[in-house]
Amino acid sequence: MKLPVFEIPIYKYEIENWEENKKSLMKILPDFLQKGDFTDYYDNQMASFMPLYANTVFNLIQKSMEDFAQYYPCPAQIVNMWCERSRAGDRHEPHNHGATGFSAVLYVQFEEGKHKPTRFFSPFGDPANGDLMQYEPDVKEGDLIIFPSFLIHESQMCDTDYERIIISFNIMGQDQYNILHSV
Ligand SMILES: [Fe+2]
Repeated sequence: MKLPVFEIPIYKYEIENWEENKKSLMKILPDFLQKGDFTDYYDNQMASFMPLYANTVFNLIQKSMEDFAQYYPCPAQIVNMWCERSRAGDRHEPHNHGATGFSAVLYVQFEEGKHKPTRFFSPFGDPANGDLMQYEPDVKEGDLIIFPSFLIHESQMCDTDYERIIISFNIMGQDQYNILHSV
């Protein structure tokens, strides 16, 4: 008998009416998309600061977040949000988002076959040989992936001139957030 001990929960959602919603989102993404910047991450690091496009994103992901909330052990909230653009040759090396809860990637501009999905790395090795285990979810544009913030992941190199654009955010339990941000 095999006992499934410990699991790494990853959630996948599909945003409805994506074509229409993508147009709305692309109209309001920040100016950096017209310039040379890779991300607005470093502009958005004040506690509770949300970029101008956050409300549009909240509307798009509302149903997904309601479903996700069923699995979270306490009320949770989105605590920061940023956008990331990759052009040919760009990649985001393996990293995690800290031990703060869950993190998410919304694939805003993503062409299957040209772009590669986020690659996740198991926190433990293959029991048979210790090999580093990897996982790439099958995603398409308009999909939302939510994963534990501690989980190491990378954006694989973009090898096409067609830009890959994602929006990412972190989700934290309200009790944890209150502890971290109490004066
Ligand atoms: Fe990340």
